[in-house]
Amino acid sequence: MRCSVFVVALAVGLSASSPLQAIEKRQAVDDTTVLNFALTLEHLENAFYQQALAKFDQQAFLDAGLPEFARGRFEQVAAHEATHVQFLSTALGNNATQPCTYNFPYTDPKSFAALSQVLEGVGVSAYTGAAQLITNKQYLTAAASILATEARHASWVASAVNKFAGWSGAFDVPLDLNEVFTLAAAFITSCPSTNPTLPVKAYPALKIGNPVPGQNSHFSSQSSTGPTFIAFFTGLDTIFVAVKDGAVEIPKDLSGQVYALGTTSGTAATPDTIVSGPAVLLFERNSSNALISSGQAN
Ligand SMILES: *[C@@H]1O[C@H](CO)[C@@H](O)[C@H](O)[C@H]1NC(C)=O
Ligand SMILES: *[C@@H]1O[C@H](CO)[C@@H](O)[C@H](O)[C@H]1NC(C)=O
Repeated sequence: MRCSVFVVALAVGLSASSPLQAIEKRQAVDDTTVLNFALTLEHLENAFYQQALAKFDQQAFLDAGLPEFARGRFEQVAAHEATHVQFLSTALGNNATQPCTYNFPYTDPKSFAALSQVLEGVGVSAYTGAAQLITNKQYLTAAASILATEARHASWVASAVNKFAGWSGAFDVPLDLNEVFTLAAAFITSCPSTNPTLPVKAYPALKIGNPVPGQNSHFSSQSSTGPTFIAFFTGLDTIFVAVKDGAVEIPKDLSGQVYALGTTSGTAATPDTIVSGPAVLLFERNSSNALISSGQAN
């Protein structure tokens, strides 16, 4: 069973040429840099949970209409993130990057839970995308183990707390370092000047107005060059849609957490062609696959 699932996954991967081409072009970075990148995210997640739990007590969770078990489980999630920070910091020794200061936009336990779902999904995409950059197989195994736990968090908060599907589809999206950093940077206010400089850049913002599958949506891109395509990252696929009159037609079958990027190419979404994004788009579907909500999360 395990074997046949793997063969199917490989066959799908090989037939989906565009995401694999994008993956092959990624720059080589050393393990210290990849681990510090992961640690940058874990510091952020750790602060995200610690601050929310310090701010909202059990009564606040109940008043927000969240299940009685939610806060206790979030405490467990927070402890996992603190452990990930400790694990990576120990592996990196003196090279370990230190926490930054952050600004999270949640205002109550409900908006915190919504953002938790998105952040855990980004964490999954970050580890999935970074896997190929890790040279040491023991670090790779540890990263896979963390990825699995982040995926369980994402699934739990999406389904048990937010009452949505616990997955996006058969595959999660691999994001590269710049794409992840763009999403993380939105929450970072400042970092210690002694932190190692990572080889990453943040792209300008992309806002997709009211994204509904099969419908035209107006967007705004803060890039100096306007995108000629919007690339939708869904599972291992990239769907390129040409821009027409400042609008883009949202692909019909999108589900779960999808990333949209403005590009100047209709065949490749790479650091050379990406001008803005990612916009994190959520397409929530009920158990009979009907769309129940959609929107941009960032
Ligand atoms: C710290 O970084 C330097 C330079 O990249 C590297 O040679 C060394 O092995 C690193 N130490 C650890 C514990 O990762
Ligand atoms: C899903 O939503 C559609 C459209 O609102 C509705 O007709 C259907 O009954 C829903 N299915 C379930 C299982 O809730």
